[in-house]
Amino acid sequence: MSEISSSHIKKIGIVGAGQMGIGIAYVSAVVAKRNVVIMDTQQKQLDGGLKFIDGLLKKEVSKGRLSEAEIPDIKGRLQVTTTTDSFSDVDFVVEAATENPELKAKIFEGLDKAVPAGVVLASNTSSISITKIASSTNRPEKVIGMHFMNPVPVMKLVEIIPGIATSPDTLAVTRHLASDMGKTVTTSNDYPGFIANRILMPYINEAVYVLMEGVGTKEDIDTTMKLGTNVPMGPLTLADFIGLDTCLAIMRVLHSQLGDAKYRPCPLLINYVNAGWLGKKTGRGFYEYP
Ligand code: CAA
Repeated sequence: MSEISSSHIKKIGIVGAGQMGIGIAYVSAVVAKRNVVIMDTQQKQLDGGLKFIDGLLKKEVSKGRLSEAEIPDIKGRLQVTTTTDSFSDVDFVVEAATENPELKAKIFEGLDKAVPAGVVLASNTSSISITKIASSTNRPEKVIGMHFMNPVPVMKLVEIIPGIATSPDTLAVTRHLASDMGKTVTTSNDYPGFIANRILMPYINEAVYVLMEGVGTKEDIDTTMKLGTNVPMGPLTLADFIGLDTCLAIMRVLHSQLGDAKYRPCPLLINYVNAGWLGKKTGRGFYEYP
């Protein structure tokens, strides 16, 4: 058994104040009780993120799961910034920026300079190779995948992905920290889609084929899978919730990197994305969200 723990991690830097970054900030400050600095280049995103956290905290108080007295401490643990300058004293970083390989490479290059040597740099990527991300730093042994599920405060899983050069110590620290955040951990090799999306995305893609081929209506497809396999949402509702652009991007990674025709993205999924019908976030996907 490893002697490594996460107790030295007092402050966590988070890159990206989107849905995932804010969720990770929430579990870091509220569950793991760490200081958190959230970085996003857009102040508007940071303001929106803090507002969202405020709402969640109010709900927790109203449900009696947090006391009013704990709120100032939690808020005091959260800091926001538009540059990585204030990452000079962080003990762990989770990157949760847009899923774009060039952007991630640029961010990790910058983090490698801004963050003290020896600090782990984790990426919440859902499909980009960790080994590739790590290669844009001078500390590939400290780079790891930490794939949270959406919505982060609710979902119990973190999938951890060591790259080819990731050290066993980095893996151990990351596992401990995820567990401090209240999450159950699984480990996946650095392989296209890792475990979760390798299985989930072909399932969603197949549901879109079933719709396109007229086997059933969207409601029949979703109800069949929701009640028939005891999942909280049917596949088309789930695709709307994740974002059809994200689903398509992951299918493209599986198709191009695994080379098997069984991963070809459904033409109807491509059409929806081309139309800008990306799901809940744009008000329309397979369903409409007024
Ligand atoms: N942030 C924080 N909490 C949230 C939330 C959010 N974005 N959305 C919902 N919740 C909370 C609600 O506040 C509520 O909390 P309480 O129990 O305290 O009231 C709880 O979740 C349940 O919410 P609702 O009653 O509104 O609705 P629900 O019962 O339908 O649950 C859900 C919502 C948790 C999203 C549920 O539908 C669900 O589990 N859906 C499947 C989610 C899933 O599969 N996620 C994985 C996506 S794949 C992925 O993330 C990987 C990838 O790389 C693409």
